[in-house]
Amino acid sequence: MKALVHDGNGTIAIEDRPKPEPIDPGDAIVRVTRSTICTSDLHIIHSAVPRALPDTVLGHEFVGVVEQVGAGVTKLAAGDRVAVSCETFCGECFYCKRGWVNNCVQGGWELGCRMDGCQAEFVRVPFAEQTCSVIPDGVADEDALFLGDIVATGQWGAEIAELERGCTVAVIGAGPVGLATMMCAKLAEPGCIIAIDIDAKRLALAKERGLADETIDASTMDLDAVEAAVRKMTEGRGADAVVEAAGGSNTFEMAWRIARPNAVVVISAMYEGPQTLPLHEMYGKNLVFKTGGVDAANLGETMKLVEDGRIDTSCLISKRYALNDILEAYRAFEAREDDCLKMVITPWEER
Ligand SMILES: NC(=O)c1ccc[n+]([C@@H]2O[C@H](COP(=O)([O-])OP(=O)(O)OC[C@H]3O[C@@H](n4cnc5c(N)ncnc54)[C@H](O)[C@@H]3O)[C@@H](O)[C@H]2O)c1
Ligand SMILES: [Zn+2]
Ligand SMILES: [Zn+2]
Repeated sequence: MKALVHDGNGTIAIEDRPKPEPIDPGDAIVRVTRSTICTSDLHIIHSAVPRALPDTVLGHEFVGVVEQVGAGVTKLAAGDRVAVSCETFCGECFYCKRGWVNNCVQGGWELGCRMDGCQAEFVRVPFAEQTCSVIPDGVADEDALFLGDIVATGQWGAEIAELERGCTVAVIGAGPVGLATMMCAKLAEPGCIIAIDIDAKRLALAKERGLADETIDASTMDLDAVEAAVRKMTEGRGADAVVEAAGGSNTFEMAWRIARPNAVVVISAMYEGPQTLPLHEMYGKNLVFKTGGVDAANLGETMKLVEDGRIDTSCLISKRYALNDILEAYRAFEAREDDCLKMVITPWEER
């Protein structure tokens, strides 16, 4: 089969790889019908993800059709259309029982990171009964495509931000993850969602789509000005909750500065370098920081939201490329060509 492989030194290439077979009884082999490129794939290529292994097929956001299941899989069958979590998890360990599947002792973010991922024709999915969610007939593949990663990240971020009805939540970054975060935050009925970015077009989309009530274009502002703008929108206090989904050079500092005292600051972004936590400067603000990898355990729940029309990610899809053209898709994605948000990868020769 054809697959996109990174070598650990910044080079990616399409290779011929053997079609995967079930290894463990809980495995499913999924024929990939749609996959995407995630900004986290770029972090891997930039060697900024210490857990990533070289010579691995990239990709962790996808939907497909079950081709084959291992002997222990009874809840899925060949022919099922499935959305797949970016994390594979056992469902039984200390962490899984608490919903912290990112830290599953037998899994976590493995696909496209430590084991072969979905930018290929087929992928082996461990713990398939936990990891795969059947897509109902009324939901198209592309409508379920983002559930396993960026929608899960949006839902996770909104949930751990402890949003209360009527609150003000600031989302830094109006890229795919930031926009998905706003979609999920909206479900908690906040009084105001403030989107902050340096890309006016992304902010305009957030506003047009009703995802943000207010926007701040920080492209020509220093952090004092951004902080002042947020305070102006919040009776001088700062945001009740902040989700940092940008990963920019100053956005960690922005996140804690625009938060009001006792706010929750969620860091969804993945940084390519260390950040500074100047506790002496934020002393007395009594902030709660929550960081890390998404716990993508609730695909069934978000699938229902898609089915009911409460989450609609169609505005994120910018362009489709067949797997044959994935190198070009990576180039255009990284260059943000034509203001793209997400590139969808269709199967080999499916142009
Ligand atoms: N926590 C997780 O499990 C998880 C899951 C998926 C993705 N991610 C990470 O989330 C991050 C966002 O992903 P994405 O695909 O939306 O990326 P993206 O690069 O498309 O979006 C980031 C946005 O932040 C904006 N930005 C950059 N610098 C800024 C600044 N100084 N001030 C304001 N805005 C600024 C950019 O203009 C862009 O719109 C990435 O780091 C990705 O790796 C994390
Ligand atoms: Zn991702
Ligand atoms: Zn587990």
